[in-house]
Order: sequence, then structure tokens, then C-alpha cells
Amino acid sequence: MSELNKIAIQILSSGKGILAADESNGTMTKRLEAVSVKSSPENRLAFRETLFSSESMKDCIGGVILYDETINQITSSGKSIPEVIAKTGAIPGIKVDTGAKELANSTEEKITEGLDGLRERLKKYYALGARFTKWRGVYSISDKFPSKLAIHSNAHALARYSTLVQECNMVPIVEPEVLMDGSHTADICFSKTSDVIKKCFEELILHKVDLSGIILKPNMILSGSQSKEKISSEEISLKTLKCLKNSVPSEVPGIAFLSGGQSEIEATENLNSINKNNNTNFIMTYSYGRALQQSALKIWSNNIKDIDATQNTFNHRAKMCTLAAQGKWSSELENK
Ligand code: 13P
Repeated sequence: MSELNKIAIQILSSGKGILAADESNGTMTKRLEAVSVKSSPENRLAFRETLFSSESMKDCIGGVILYDETINQITSSGKSIPEVIAKTGAIPGIKVDTGAKELANSTEEKITEGLDGLRERLKKYYALGARFTKWRGVYSISDKFPSKLAIHSNAHALARYSTLVQECNMVPIVEPEVLMDGSHTADICFSKTSDVIKKCFEELILHKVDLSGIILKPNMILSGSQSKEKISSEEISLKTLKCLKNSVPSEVPGIAFLSGGQSEIEATENLNSINKNNNTNFIMTYSYGRALQQSALKIWSNNIKDIDATQNTFNHRAKMCTLAAQGKWSSELENK
């Protein structure tokens, strides 16, 4: 078993998942302003430190994805954020892409940037305690999109990123996110997501990435958020499993889904169905941002001094997601 494979398994095993707390300052400002809290470095740190010191970190969270500002921040107790996270047993990780920009020659689509200077930045993050990283490619669905150009260029960037990350002894999270926006059916999402994931692995293999030392972070197979089609959680899980079984090489140790705009309960219920029906050898867990933090952020914004109330809300969500990662969740548990 390679060192990278061991790290990936440590992050994902025993029903643990990933807390994606790597919102850029721009995104975090939108989230904080939506609950009427000023977006300052101190407030961003206070919310995140509250989550990272929660009791559920120990049993539920295997890894935390940080943003550049956060990985460099020092808490009120004088500890660095990676130290606070590592003390709970979770592994600190870092988002290393610099965001999705207009794709030349297909300007309604996006290409993710951040390869320039990446090797040097990775060394700094490793020294700060990071042992895994994230890079997100983003694709939209329409009758024309994602184009072959977007599928190819994002897969190429994800592969180049992955080689540099493994060279620096860290586990790359490979995140090709096919967005929920649109009125498409789940079958369209299935076919476009399959094309995207297959191309990613074609490029990862070409670039000689060790597939046993990556984590795939895909979207689930869902109907578009403006679609009239409503499918059950059971159907979502079967389509998602079929797509991944057909597109992901068996060496990959685990898959950690993004929530992508699903509600907290939807993201939990769908992950639970996926695990109940899991007929693959992949670990299937969560790497949620909004679906782990939304309620906690609302409670925190009512009184940012009431740490217990925020942590109780986060603990509940993390426990529900960890049960779902083992196929042991049920809706009745939400009200206990
Ligand atoms: P969401 O779960 O809110 O989609 O965030 C996950 C993530 O890391 C997106 O890159």
C-alpha cells in the first residue's frame, strides 16, 4: 500500500467524510452577508474555528479542505488552524486552484486556473501541515455544453495538477463538478457526467498519476434544478452508481461527493441510498460544503458568541452524514 493510498483511506474510512471549508473570500463574503454578518478575516476565522473544534470532528470528519487565508491563520489559543484540525485526528487539506475563468474560444464555459507556480505553493502548504489538496473543474449542461473543448482542457489541467501534488507527497482530490443548473433530465446528467469523468481518467492515466493515491469528488446524478422531472433518492443512487462503475478505474480507493446545491437532507438521503445500494469496491462518502455548514452558519449568525449552539448544529449534521456514508441513516434520526 503506498503512502498516498494510506492517507486517502485514512481520510475516507469508517464512515468519515470531508468538511469542505475552502470557500474563497469572495464566496465566504456572500455566505456571511446572506446571514447579515460582516465578512472580516476575524469573523471567517471565528466561524471556522468553531466548526473545527466541534466534538464530531473526531468521529465523523477525516479531512478538512481549507482556503489559503485559513491555513495561515492563528487561533485565539495561539495554535495554527492545521494544528487544531490535526489534534482531532482529521487531516488538513488545501484548495490549490485559483478559480474558474472564461474558457477562450468557448467563453460561456469555464477553465480552472492555478498551474503557474503550483509546485512552489505546494511545498509551502506541505510545510504548513497539508496532506491533501483540491482542484475543481466546473462544467455546465445545455444542448451544446459541456463542449469537447471544456471537457478536454479541464481534464488536462486536473491531470497536471494531480502529478504535481503527488510529486509533493500529497493526495489530490480530483473534482470535476457538472453543475445542477438547468432543466435537463437525470439521464442527460448521466451521459454528460460519464463523458467528463471518463476524459479525466484518460488524462490522469496519460500523465501517470497513481490512481490508488487520489480521491474523486464528483457530483451525484440528478435532474437539473429547473427540471420538471422529479426522481426518487433510490433512482438517483442507482444512476450515480452505474455512472461511476462504468467510468472510474478500480484502483481509485474512494469517492467523496460534493453537495452542489442540494439541501442538507437531500444530500444526506441520497448518500445514504448510494451506500445502501453500493455494488462497487469504492468507499462512497461526502465532501460537503453547504450541506454540512448551512444550518450551523445560520445558528452562528444569531449569536456568534454562542459556540455550543453552533457546534451542536454542526455535530448533528456531521453525524447524519457519517451515518449516510454507512447506509445507516433514516429520516427519523433527524429529529432525535
Ligand atoms: P458543496 O458541497 O457546497 O457543493 O461544496 C463542495 C465543494 O468543495 C465545491 O467545490
